[in-house]
Amino acid sequence: MREKELPIKLVVNGVPWEGTAPAEMTLLRLLRERIALTGTKEGCGIGECGACTVIVDGRPVPSCLMLAVEADGCQVRTVEGEVRDGELSPLQQAFVEHHAVQCGYCTPGMLMSAQALLERNPHPSDEEILEAIAGNLCRCTGYAAIVAAIRACADGAPPPTGAQRPETNGEEVSRD
Ligand code: FES
Ligand code: FES
Repeated sequence: MREKELPIKLVVNGVPWEGTAPAEMTLLRLLRERIALTGTKEGCGIGECGACTVIVDGRPVPSCLMLAVEADGCQVRTVEGEVRDGELSPLQQAFVEHHAVQCGYCTPGMLMSAQALLERNPHPSDEEILEAIAGNLCRCTGYAAIVAAIRACADGAPPPTGAQRPETNGEEVSRD
């Protein structure tokens, strides 16, 4: 029997999205499978690795732990929305320049946790940076380059960013 679909309206990267999702579908799956934003990654699926972090109403959230229906009415930001006019955000650029990306699997979630930090605290200490990314695991970099990249942006926090239009509305797409 097909699961009952519930209506959801939310704004993703500044663009309104309206569709449906099963009651138990996570926000992570909604973003990846129905809004075609596959930049947000699934790692552990149980709230421990941070790969799935997105910003919901200004707060970093592990999207594998949030139901899609709980995001109804919310403003959601993903790594795709941080790109402005085809250019990397200052924080994304800093990650590149400081070699804070290796395999890149943790990077979308790491960026969103760091972006949320810089918007609520434009001048974080290294301790505050480490605390902000404590829920984001990286198996590759050893964290020093990531902290350096975030610190490089700390004197001029990037403003909240604009939108990338979701390309589908309610259609299933395959996972990466
Ligand atoms: Fe969500 Fe690991 S996939 S915290
Ligand atoms: Fe590979 Fe962080 S760059 S897990």
